[in-house]
Amino acid sequence: MTLERFESEYLIIGSGIAGLNLALQMAESGKVNVISKTNLDETNTNYAQGGIATVTTESDSFESHINDTLMAGADLCHKDAVEVMVSEGPDRINDLIDWGVNFSRSKESSDYELAREGGHSVSRIFHVKDFTGAEIQKVLLERANEHPNIQLFEDYYAIDLITDHHVLGNLQAAFNICFGAYVFSKNDRKVHVFRSGYTILATGGGSRVFQYSTNPETSTGDGVAMAYRAGVRIANMEFVQFHPTALYEPGHRLFLISEALRGYGGIIKNLDGEAFVKKYDSRGELAPRDIVSRAIDSEMKKRREDHVWLDMTHLDHNKVRQRFPKIYEYCLKEINVDISKDPIPVVPAAHYLCGGIMTSLNGQTSMQNLFACGETAHTGVHGANRLASNSLLEALVFSYRISEKLKTKLKRNFDDVLIPEWDETGVLNMDEWFLIKHNLKQIQSLMWNYVGIVRSKQTLERAFRRIKLIYEETENYYQRTKISSELLELRNMAAIAYMIILSALRRNESRGCHYMKDYPESMDRFLKDTII
Ligand code: FAD
Ligand code: SIN
Repeated sequence: MTLERFESEYLIIGSGIAGLNLALQMAESGKVNVISKTNLDETNTNYAQGGIATVTTESDSFESHINDTLMAGADLCHKDAVEVMVSEGPDRINDLIDWGVNFSRSKESSDYELAREGGHSVSRIFHVKDFTGAEIQKVLLERANEHPNIQLFEDYYAIDLITDHHVLGNLQAAFNICFGAYVFSKNDRKVHVFRSGYTILATGGGSRVFQYSTNPETSTGDGVAMAYRAGVRIANMEFVQFHPTALYEPGHRLFLISEALRGYGGIIKNLDGEAFVKKYDSRGELAPRDIVSRAIDSEMKKRREDHVWLDMTHLDHNKVRQRFPKIYEYCLKEINVDISKDPIPVVPAAHYLCGGIMTSLNGQTSMQNLFACGETAHTGVHGANRLASNSLLEALVFSYRISEKLKTKLKRNFDDVLIPEWDETGVLNMDEWFLIKHNLKQIQSLMWNYVGIVRSKQTLERAFRRIKLIYEETENYYQRTKISSELLELRNMAAIAYMIILSALRRNESRGCHYMKDYPESMDRFLKDTII
């Protein structure tokens, strides 16, 4: 039986801010297929709270935003990429405003109300109260839905990129080109060919590889894993950012308590009610995230406590409720905490992948016709630690730059290349859900306990030995088994965990989010990216 094939000039894998912004920018230039492995709005973007950093006021400057970004990145940012991101930021915010994103304005002056977060020397963060991401996701999706050249595919799971390796029999030589992707449809449970002139990975992050994470379940690093299997260059996977304040709620997904609460005056306290972050860094609550997360981790371990408090109770109660309505509602409903009157129990949790698929300033990867943007990409802007609210900005700026690049390129869809159908000969429908679940839990707990906020050579080596076994076992199981989304996710998470540990083992120093107990200092000889 011949399966349905899908063809387009542009295939975008991912429907978050990076994928949808790019789709909207490209829609006048050709047919765009956008696929999402679950609901189109189940993205990291949708959960973003704090906002988007950009320079728009006279009291601020590009230089200041660049310096703050470089400082948070602990000498590993690519300065050219940071300059591009910061200087093109205001235009990209204007695109969102033109499309209808309703950023919060101050009641007094009707100017945009700019927030402050850790590591920023001034207030420069555009936000929609405390649900910035949901508003952006909604506006972008509505527009993409309306455009006749954009086709959106929900519940379509990209398995692997189609490369020379798959079509070599039909080509004269190997060219290191991407021709699209093999995609598993959860609707008909078949694997389809998505052929495309240009393929763009906008698959988001991978922080669900850790037991405790602020990310939705979809955040399993699929783009990085697919790129890795296709031989594409990956960088800096050791730098996983832990957010200092996720709601402590045993047994639940970790709901984020935005950094904007600390920007608004919130204070972190131990269970005796003592503020302690200033003991670790004079910038206190507004120091970069890696520092605040380590301070909390250290305090919790020293005092053998399960969480700390984030205290907003000294601030105007009404204003706190109005400024953070979603967080207020969530805490009241789920744990009966009124954030304006009670301290909030919080813990650090895995939040953001600073490394990823290496790209040029135009989003080009090391494979021809393959681009990457958003959290899955490594553009160089974050270095060893991302500055708060620079992620949505990076996704917007670099997806736009890809569109500018693609518009200068030859339009094509590779209809002259014979792409074989997905081959399932010999695979069995094994009902071994328990094995998948067990391995998944093992990876998450291994990563949290051995590869977390504080690492050591010994814990990393132990983790590496175990992950290698799981990785090999999963690959072997994958080769013999009929595709399911659970299996694909496990396979990708094993690959991501493997890359994070491998990269961490290569960096015998502490820098940004990578902290090694046995190498507590930064060293000049490690002033370079870790490339796989
Ligand atoms: P995402 O928005 O995560 O979208 C990924 C898309 O890829 C999804 O559609 C998914 O279905 C699809 N996908 C993945 N794998 C596959 C596959 N195999 N096949 C098909 N589709 C696939 N950053 C800020 O700058 N400011 C903030 O205030 C902020 N707050 C945050 C709060 C939370 C709780 C979290 C989790 C993150 C926050 N971040 C914030 C980070 C930021 O939200 C993300 O980095 C950003 O949204 C990533 O956008 P993206 O388009 O790259 O990916
Ligand atoms: C937050 O609101 O604290 C998240 C901001 C970010 O991840 O940049």
